[in-house]
Amino acid sequence: MSLSLRPVAETEWPDWISLDEEAFGNAIPPHRAELYRRNTEFGRSLGAFDGDLLVGVTAVCSLTMAVPGGPIPVGGVTAVGVLPSHRRRGVLSALMTRQFSDLHEGGEAVAALHASEAVIYGRYGYGRAADGLSVRIPTAGAVFTRHAPADPALRLRVVRPADARDVFERVHAAVLDRRPGLYARTPARWDAVLSDEDSDRGEGALRAVVAEDDEGPRGYALFRMKASWDEHDVPDGELRLRDLFALDPAAYALLWRHVLDRDLVSHVTAVRPGDDPLIHLLADPRALRARWADELWFRLVHVGRALPARRYSAPVDVVIEVEDATCPWNAGRWRLTAGTSDARCEPSADPADVTLPVSALGAAYLGGRPLEALRAAGLARESRPGALRELSVAMSWEPAPWSGLIF
Ligand SMILES: CC(C)(COP(=O)(O)OP(=O)(O)OC[C@H]1O[C@@H](n2cnc3c(N)ncnc32)[C@H](O)[C@@H]1OP(=O)(O)O)[C@@H](O)C(=O)NCCC(=O)NCCS
Repeated sequence: MSLSLRPVAETEWPDWISLDEEAFGNAIPPHRAELYRRNTEFGRSLGAFDGDLLVGVTAVCSLTMAVPGGPIPVGGVTAVGVLPSHRRRGVLSALMTRQFSDLHEGGEAVAALHASEAVIYGRYGYGRAADGLSVRIPTAGAVFTRHAPADPALRLRVVRPADARDVFERVHAAVLDRRPGLYARTPARWDAVLSDEDSDRGEGALRAVVAEDDEGPRGYALFRMKASWDEHDVPDGELRLRDLFALDPAAYALLWRHVLDRDLVSHVTAVRPGDDPLIHLLADPRALRARWADELWFRLVHVGRALPARRYSAPVDVVIEVEDATCPWNAGRWRLTAGTSDARCEPSADPADVTLPVSALGAAYLGGRPLEALRAAGLARESRPGALRELSVAMSWEPAPWSGLIF
């Protein structure tokens, strides 16, 4: 195999789609392929060619993503696939290495991705930065506590999703910087979110409800609902929640109440942030059946630019020895000096206080991964007693990170 790497031209899109379908073993309906194409930045794609044959692909989306302290540019790595005939011959490694050097030369200081399998990206310096809580809530036991916020001025309006897009866009943009991991959705991204062709309706048609008062919208929920009845003719429908965003706690509670109260629905399923206030709204938190899954992986492509780009929960002054075989420009000692409103990170000749693989910094970057736990797992060391805890506390953040939508 003689491998060459270059961006994939838009005219080569049919080859890209066939590769994607082969790698993932699925069939992409034509309108989904078109949405995928419109969400692709071809200039930021990278194809691996064996002669003329496209055998591997990846791309970067230019995201604006919230991190602790506010939104920053993040390289959203996506569309990773290798033709089955060429797997396990180093194609992905070649693509990842080139992508990092391209990003280092003129792109974002951090990269993020959603992984199809959790074992793939750690070797390239990605750390598991955000978890999704996959929940299944039987509606029968989903009673709220008496302290659930309420506002008599609020009312619900059932809308057709296509008619309320401007409401969704405004609410989502307004809450974007409240949670690390949330990212701005482009018009093409919203087109994909709201697509509701026959082949999108495996979990039922897309439905939506808006919470509003006389001043205007304060939140919305977007979901799919599928009616069914069990063998005793008891309603057993599922409501699959997609988005639930609100400007304030009362609207948030009302929207959750609504999705839990829909007629003929026996259970609601969703992937939520690990600290979803719903956990505290439920009188019986055990009503919520949950399991964890990795949601976002983060990679510091340029440590010196990435660490000052976020804010810190407490002042910290620590020399970090970074281990990074894939991006050697990161390897070495860096002094991170941060207050709660500014931060600096510079190369340092001082002895290291803590030693970390770059993946540990990626895992902690969004504030949801305590470094002490990584130390207990053998992923971090300290030479100055207490230094790791200082860094861990400074990097921690509330609320928990979560992106809410695969890019
Ligand atoms: C995952 C995928 C991109 C890997 O591509 P690849 O070209 O086979 O990967 P490489 O040959 O460069 O592998 C590099 C290393 O990662 C390991 N690796 C790669 N994919 C792996 C997987 N799915 N599980 C375990 N290890 C994996 C390889 O064994 C190799 O390890 P080594 O360096 O110790 O030998 C490819 O198998 C694929 O397209 N899978 C289906 C689609 C998919 O899941 N894409 C990822 C979307 S996030």
